[in-house]
Amino acid sequence: MLKTIAILSAVTSCFSFANAADSVVSWPSPAYDEIEDLMVLNSGYNARNFPFPLVPCTFTRSPGHSIAGGFLRTAFHDMAAADVRAGTGGLDASIGFEMDSSIYIENTGVAFNNTMTYFSSYFNSRATMSDLIALGVYASVRACGGPAVPLKAGRIDATNAGPQAVPDPKNDTVKMTAEFARMGFSPQEMIQVVACGHTLGGVHSAEHPTLVLPNTTALGVTDFDTTNSTYDNKVVTGYLDGTSQNPLVVGPDVDSRSDLRIFSSDGNKTVSSMADPSSYSTTCSKILAKMIDTVPDNVVLTSVITPYDVKPYNLHLSVVGDDDLQFSGAIRFKTTSIPKSAISSIQLAYRDRNGADGDVIGTTILGDASGFDDTFTFFGFNSTVPAKTSISSFTVVVALSSGTVTYDNNHQGFPVQDTVFAQTLNSNLAASDAQGNQAATLVAAVRKGTIGDVELTFSSVQKMTYNNLPTISKSTISMARACESEYYTFYSATYSIATAAVNGTKYDVSVGGFSDSFKSLKLPVAPNALSCQGGGNSWSNTTSSTSATSSVPIPSTGDADTWTTAIVTALTTYCPYATEVVQGSRTYTVTQATTLIITDCPCTVSWSSGQSTTTSSADYFATTISNLMHAGNAAPTATNTTSPPSFNAEQPTLSVWSAPTTLPTIQTYTGGARIIVPGLSLIAGLAIGSIVFL
Ligand code: HEM
Ligand SMILES: *[C@@H]1O[C@H](CO)[C@@H](O)[C@H](O)[C@H]1NC(C)=O
Ligand SMILES: *[C@@H]1O[C@H](CO)[C@@H](O)[C@H](O)[C@H]1NC(C)=O
Ligand SMILES: *[C@@H]1O[C@H](CO)[C@@H](O)[C@H](O)[C@H]1NC(C)=O
Ligand SMILES: *[C@@H]1O[C@H](CO)[C@@H](O)[C@H](O)[C@H]1NC(C)=O
Ligand SMILES: *[C@@H]1O[C@H](CO)[C@@H](O)[C@H](O)[C@H]1NC(C)=O
Ligand SMILES: *[C@@H]1O[C@H](CO)[C@@H](O)[C@H](O)[C@H]1NC(C)=O
Ligand SMILES: *[C@@H]1O[C@H](CO)[C@@H](O)[C@H](O)[C@H]1NC(C)=O
Ligand SMILES: *[C@@H]1O[C@H](CO)[C@@H](O)[C@H](O)[C@H]1NC(C)=O
Ligand SMILES: *[C@@H]1O[C@H](CO)[C@@H](O)[C@H](O)[C@H]1NC(C)=O
Repeated sequence: MLKTIAILSAVTSCFSFANAADSVVSWPSPAYDEIEDLMVLNSGYNARNFPFPLVPCTFTRSPGHSIAGGFLRTAFHDMAAADVRAGTGGLDASIGFEMDSSIYIENTGVAFNNTMTYFSSYFNSRATMSDLIALGVYASVRACGGPAVPLKAGRIDATNAGPQAVPDPKNDTVKMTAEFARMGFSPQEMIQVVACGHTLGGVHSAEHPTLVLPNTTALGVTDFDTTNSTYDNKVVTGYLDGTSQNPLVVGPDVDSRSDLRIFSSDGNKTVSSMADPSSYSTTCSKILAKMIDTVPDNVVLTSVITPYDVKPYNLHLSVVGDDDLQFSGAIRFKTTSIPKSAISSIQLAYRDRNGADGDVIGTTILGDASGFDDTFTFFGFNSTVPAKTSISSFTVVVALSSGTVTYDNNHQGFPVQDTVFAQTLNSNLAASDAQGNQAATLVAAVRKGTIGDVELTFSSVQKMTYNNLPTISKSTISMARACESEYYTFYSATYSIATAAVNGTKYDVSVGGFSDSFKSLKLPVAPNALSCQGGGNSWSNTTSSTSATSSVPIPSTGDADTWTTAIVTALTTYCPYATEVVQGSRTYTVTQATTLIITDCPCTVSWSSGQSTTTSSADYFATTISNLMHAGNAAPTATNTTSPPSFNAEQPTLSVWSAPTTLPTIQTYTGGARIIVPGLSLIAGLAIGSIVFL
């Protein structure tokens, strides 16, 4: 069903002119996206090359030991402990703890350790070993000419070994059927999955000396069929026409002829229906999907991975100077059904942080890539957006010879999160010290006015060891405010990492529910000093400079100047987030959800509650600000108090509180810093809300 949708989507994209034709899944979807990469970026630009040891499928680790066969068999042995009624076991990588073949006798031979060791080189916080085992089924079958097995992501790795549960070739049909029933497979599905497994590789005398007598074969292996490196149905046709060499059908160990017993358990009905190559292919695609989707109850799998038509890569924001953000990245475009030659241009049409249309960003070709069934071209971009209005999302506009197609990520645009991001321009990874450690000094840019602790999280891969799985270990440290530019405050933290762990380490910077995640430590060795507001000034301490009788200071320049006085006058505002009001020694934070709604620069300030013409100004203050907000000695606001500004004599003071006669109106201010001097009749009431530095 999902396949059908994907095909329709691809077809639609050929003919649609106005609207987007996107993948079923919206980007980003972390685990899905990572496995999608590993599934389709086999070669070329940005290649991940997961199927490297499978292409060609004839590769062996040592003569007679099929790598593809090892991948496929590992998945079955891992899944085999599933108990669907209990909701436990299944494809969960528990096989990583089951390497000891004196306990897990079914796991003899080097194939399991070799397979898991290979997979572990792709393991990270978005690619679990169990998803990699599932991917290994897709890749091994496809690399050997079999069908595309529908693949989902989202599996969770086990933390310890499961029960010993792989059926033994000696077990009778009743036992086999019961074992497969435990795994959730009907008797017919049992036949199918075995017939779909025993087409690659074969039986080794070193592991099964009664099945393949020692020294009777050149390589110590008897293959399941005549094509040991082709995913085809010769195992079935050979069985049916009596030419089978499969040791599990005709081997000398009669008790171990499990394939014979299984295939004939329904009078050859199921295998006969697989004698046609295309029905074998369809059946195997379906039953192997069932095998890899047999997971513990607590796992929620993604939808079937279909390569995105359009997928962003490496979206990257950097603060450059006070006014600009550098915005770079790449767009991967699927050229399977729309050839590269039909594309005249790919552009990004972005929205600013208010949702207003921004500029259009052009792209240039970076390179081509391909998977088993798809081809792609990457288009790169590197542009600037105004820091003030910034960016929130973009659509991808593809000009084709047949018209323009806009890809809008299921109507929501491709999101760009500008609240917090790694300022890699000013981050660095120092050279290794004598102890073999490297100091990473990471800088995060945080949109001014964002509330919350800024944190740096490192996720390091604890490498797989024999009879164990790799794991992720995380550590989080808080980042310290370093300095600021016009719209962003920079935070930094330094962390020491063992050189050997650097490649396997990713980091996230986060604040208040926003996060720039999964960043690699590919950073310059030399630090590049931050360039901050006013030519590199550090954050300075606040000094309250004015008395209760003073009035509002006039900011000199700059949208982000902030001032505090001893009276309720200045709003320390960081569009479009929370706003601080300082009264005497108390700081109040007004958030969007309450009294002040500031949508952005140029700002719209609206009063949403609390005030009526009859409310006294004191009540107004109490209900709209102080009750709603945290009071206390919050972090000081940034101030340049070395050169006190001049004061506007007309400004109100606390002593003139009186009831406002009308509600404040919604006012929109364009441009930079402003003091709004209200009419005298409104003075007191507006003293709270109407003086806004934007
Ligand atoms: C009743 C169930 C099954 C039994 C008793 C069984 C038994 C065996 C045995 C004895 C071998 C030979 C291993 C060696 O000597 O290296 C083997 C190999 C293999 N099995 Fe199964 N198997 C069963 C089901 C499956 C299933 C469901 C799959 C996958 C869907 C599968 C995939 C494979 C593969 C790919 C190999 C070849 C491995 C290689 O060449 O290294 N088997 N199986
Ligand atoms: C498959 O068979 C060929 C020919 O006997 C042999 O050279 C090759 O090593 C075998 N491959 C595997 C994976 O067993
Ligand atoms: C497991 O496999 C890896 C990679 O092939 C190998 O380096 C390691 O020695 C193996 N360990 C054991 C105990 O077989
Ligand atoms: C299945 O096979 C194993 C190994 O030969 C044996 O120990 C077990 O008793 C068998 N179980 C049944 C029910 O045949
Ligand atoms: C016979 O087979 C065994 C087990 O596979 C192996 O260890 C031994 O070297 C072989 N001997 C000869 C003469 O090939
Ligand atoms: C199933 O096929 C096998 C192999 O051709 C044959 O030996 C057997 O008699 C068949 N069984 C039935 C019930 O047809
Ligand atoms: C983008 O361009 C800027 C300035 O031209 C350059 O410093 C930066 O390295 C570029 N970034 C990327 C990712 O290409
Ligand atoms: C890390 O990756 C780089 C580039 O891919 C490679 O040159 C280096 O050897 C790797 N370091 C380790 C410790 O694996
Ligand atoms: C801020 O004030 C504190 C306490 O007086 C002092 O320790 C700190 O160094 C000051 N920070 C800056 C940036 O001036
Ligand atoms: C404060 O402002 C004055 C006058 O604009 C300027 O000379 C001084 O460098 C500024 N100091 C700081 C720390 O920003």
